[in-house]
Formats: sequence, C-alpha cells, structure tokens
Amino acid sequence: MIEFQLNGESVSIDVDRKMPVLWVLRDILKLTGTKYGCGIAQCGACTIHVDGKAMRSCVLPIANLRNKEVTTIEGLAGEDGLHPVQQAWIDEQVPQCGYCQPGMIMSVVALLAENPDPDDAVIDRSITNICRCGTYPRIRKAIHRAAKST
Ligand code: FES
Ligand code: FES
Repeated sequence: MIEFQLNGESVSIDVDRKMPVLWVLRDILKLTGTKYGCGIAQCGACTIHVDGKAMRSCVLPIANLRNKEVTTIEGLAGEDGLHPVQQAWIDEQVPQCGYCQPGMIMSVVALLAENPDPDDAVIDRSITNICRCGTYPRIRKAIHRAAKST
C-alpha cells in the first residue's frame, strides 16, 4: 500500500510500485487533467508537483510518492478561486488546443515559487515544456502578468 497526500486529501493505493504516477492519476484515480504526451520525460504534459517541485509523472514510479504531498492541476485553485497563474492564462488567452497547458501551468507555478519575477532568459531556460501549437509568446506574457499578481 502506498500512501500520500493528493490535492490535500489522503490517498492509499495498492498497485505495482513501479507503475508510473501518470497512469495512477489518469486510469485509477480518474484525474485526467494531467496529460500524456511522450511518456519519456521530454514534453512536460504530465507535470505535477511533488512537495512543491515540478516533476514529470510519466516516468515517476508511484512508490516515490510515499508520504509526499502531491498537487495536480485539479488541486491548484484554492478556496478563493483560481491560482494567479490560471487567471493570467485566461487574461492572456494562452491556450490554443490546450493539451499542453495543464503541464505548462504546473511548471510555471513551480518556477514562480522559486523565482517570483523571472526574465525571458530564465523563463526559456526553466520552462522546457513543449507546446505543439507554439503558444510560447503568450506563455511568456502570462508568466510576467502572473509574476506581478503573486
Ligand atoms: S508525457 Fe511526461 S514528459 Fe511527456
Ligand atoms: S496549446 Fe496546443 S499543444 Fe500547447
């Protein structure tokens, strides 16, 4: 049995300890906001937070979550409403198809927690998620907007 906190609630799960976290989230817990893109830690579509750090859940064995605090896109908004990064995404109309955006937002939230006002060079170096629709210019704008409101 593997126990951890998921979006503020206790979870116990009995699966193969090597099962990737992304599979557990999507197929077992039915939290489908976290996306499958490449499955080899390259695209970032599957990004979640583990103890506040951005991690690519497609290559993370579920056993690594034991006693950790996990947040997915479903747990990002608080009681007061959307997270400022989510709001900035709406204000700047960032998404096109939207597929990469949950992972993108999770990566950006983790970046801003470490660096509250990153410049474009830091953003480009730190946010390595891939967007097939090429929304990168709007992503940068939205990060600067969110940085002002956090
Ligand atoms: S699906 Fe995990 S990095 Fe692409
Ligand atoms: S919005 Fe389509 S892949 Fe990023």
